Amino acid sequence: MKIDPWSSSTYQDYARLRDEFGIEAFTEDDWDKLPHPHRLLRRGVIFGHRGFDLILRAYQQNDPWAILTGLMPSGKMHLGHKMVIDEVIYYQSIGADIFIAVADIESYGTRGYSLTQTRDLAINEYIKNYIALGLKPERCRIYFQSTNQDVKDLAYLLGKKVNWSQMTATYGFDGSTNMTHVISPLIQTGDILHVQLEKYGGIRPVLVPVGVDQDPHIRLSRDIAQAHRLYNVTKTKDEKIGVFIKPDEQIEDLISHAESVLQSHGFTQLQSIIDYKAIYIHDATDNDITRIDQALAVTEPQFAGYGFIAPSATFHRFITGLTGEKMSSSKPESAIFLTDTLKDAEKKIMHAKTGGAVSLEQQKKEGGRPDECMIYELFLYHLIEDDKELLDVYQSCKAGKLMCGHCKKNAAEKMKSFLTDLAEKRSQAEDHISEYLSEPS
Ligand code: TRP
Repeated sequence: MKIDPWSSSTYQDYARLRDEFGIEAFTEDDWDKLPHPHRLLRRGVIFGHRGFDLILRAYQQNDPWAILTGLMPSGKMHLGHKMVIDEVIYYQSIGADIFIAVADIESYGTRGYSLTQTRDLAINEYIKNYIALGLKPERCRIYFQSTNQDVKDLAYLLGKKVNWSQMTATYGFDGSTNMTHVISPLIQTGDILHVQLEKYGGIRPVLVPVGVDQDPHIRLSRDIAQAHRLYNVTKTKDEKIGVFIKPDEQIEDLISHAESVLQSHGFTQLQSIIDYKAIYIHDATDNDITRIDQALAVTEPQFAGYGFIAPSATFHRFITGLTGEKMSSSKPESAIFLTDTLKDAEKKIMHAKTGGAVSLEQQKKEGGRPDECMIYELFLYHLIEDDKELLDVYQSCKAGKLMCGHCKKNAAEKMKSFLTDLAEKRSQAEDHISEYLSEPS
């Protein structure tokens, strides 16, 4: 199995995907410590993560953390695209700094749009909707890949520790892949890591909320961040916690620097072995590893390192299209676009595939199948906020008490009032766009 970020395939078995790629399960233990957890977190739509513990820890200790995600401007914004921004707005409400990359270079390299077209799509289709959905301009920055020199510089410089075999194995590139496409994963790594540069708030945990198709980029970014670290804090096979020096120069300086950082964090039983480029910390426990790692990371720029902490990520499932296939801009009947007219949206909902039985009698007798119903998915992902109300729909459907016609009407009404409200807010968004696009000072 391979995850291809540029294909249009859908995924069926998310648990298998998760296990095969070593993504961790995202469970109640991960979200129940957050305030008013978002419905996408509560309902298993976000089904996996890498390194979410760092985010939770930062949140709980009131330490700084940030969100970085990206949008690919290619076509109109639909409900599938809305999920990430819903998550972002939630994280903004609980204190994260927000960065959003407009992947115009990627769209140009992989989809054939011009930079002017992508700019136009990004602003009119995405950014206006983001504002209408409730993204706030404070501590929030939206930027274009093509005009962010720091991102592009990192793409060139961080690429030093990735080779062509790794790129072909991860992405299936071959001799016919154009070079802008080839470099786009490095630009995305630049997106993900640049927010830890001093100018953008410095070294801190960063969460990248994405669809699971983006996991190859997440793995690449985490590998690259790790590869450029000067210190590696880990537990050895014989159960000792140690700090290991990675470069071959300045070893003594790096060791004595680490010793003083460790001492200032209260560790006293240090055993340094220069030949091994190691410091064993006999009074550290597993719980200290992250703390030590971060304490050292933030000092790495003193030695001309980046000190990037491996970025964390959450992965969401994809909403199914109304037709039962993938929700996709290229199949308008599968998707509800945020700019759809009420009439179009209603029509698509009334034609949607449901989990109903072949006849009313049979459905009353045997019940419906909400797990296979596109209308139920609309409720679950977008339209019903109250968990009790959602559960009630689920159970009534299964019990044969709720018929598809009724649910479709209910969904259409909810959708229409959502779209009406959004259009109203979107019309006011225009004047505020520049507040989101400013450069850091
Ligand atoms: N590749 C992403 C997509 O296809 C867009 C993107 C660019 C992105 N840079 C990013 C996503 C950084 C997350 C983080 O949608």
